[in-house]
Amino acid sequence: MSRIVYVNGEYLPEEEARISVFDRGFLFADGVYEVSSVIAGKLIDNAAHLARLERSLSEIDMAAPASSEEIEKIQHEMMQRNNLDEGLIYLQVTRGAADRDFNYPKDAKPSLVMFTQAKKITQSAVAENGLNVISLPDLRWHRRDIKTVQLLYPSMAKQAAKEQGADDAWLVEDGFVTEGTSNNAWIVLDDGTLVTRELSNDILHGITRKAVMKLAAERQIRIEERPFTLDEAKGAKEAFVTSASAFVMPVVSIDGSSIGDGKPGDLSKRLRTIYLDEAHSF
Ligand code: PDD
Repeated sequence: MSRIVYVNGEYLPEEEARISVFDRGFLFADGVYEVSSVIAGKLIDNAAHLARLERSLSEIDMAAPASSEEIEKIQHEMMQRNNLDEGLIYLQVTRGAADRDFNYPKDAKPSLVMFTQAKKITQSAVAENGLNVISLPDLRWHRRDIKTVQLLYPSMAKQAAKEQGADDAWLVEDGFVTEGTSNNAWIVLDDGTLVTRELSNDILHGITRKAVMKLAAERQIRIEERPFTLDEAKGAKEAFVTSASAFVMPVVSIDGSSIGDGKPGDLSKRLRTIYLDEAHSF
């Protein structure tokens, strides 16, 4: 049975779903997106994802295709129609279809597209072994706080990592790590303090980052929000990344140099367990 996708009010088999060649998402990457995870049939942290969607839309003066309540209803309908118990739900809003013109069209209607990806995301072999990452210069634009679909550079970076036998890349700007290609970057100091870059336009304001900060603070784990260099990261006790699809994922090497003993760190593993336990209780 084929997957049912959502396109502007219709639930269709994926082979029948269509978007105009004039859609500005296609022509200008003029669109924003969100990825929420689903565990045991429940959406995780979805209110925060929809609040960030609203913010992304308002930052680029794009009309919302529907209210957050309506969008959540569609997400639930999609989960039901696709029998999604565990995996991801992707949603994308673009400015809609209009003849090609750099200026925003006056009357285009925003499009809303959604699809599900059934995946075992809680039991992960990768989490057992940890990620090997390389570093690359951060060549993205300077509004990384807006979750836009212009993901060519992150794709190039992830591809470069793969070609070098690694799993992902950490992006570096002015000597400091900004974030991973599709996740926020963290290190753990010798005294157990967590360090992750502070919020600004330089990084995406990760929903998982925020959830992990709250869970850590509740357990009296110290957190410093500040930039860190690649050298500090290479010398750290542990490293990990956070995202809606990876949750808390240990990093075991950067540019070939092992972090700690080269195995997923204890605090990284503990935070992953805490996050997943919390997610199961949603
Ligand atoms: N990526 N930083 C970047 C650049 C991201 O693309 C993401 C998420 C994050 C983590 O944010 P969150 O915790 O809200 O997922 C940080 C998603 C998962 C993706 O593009 O598939």
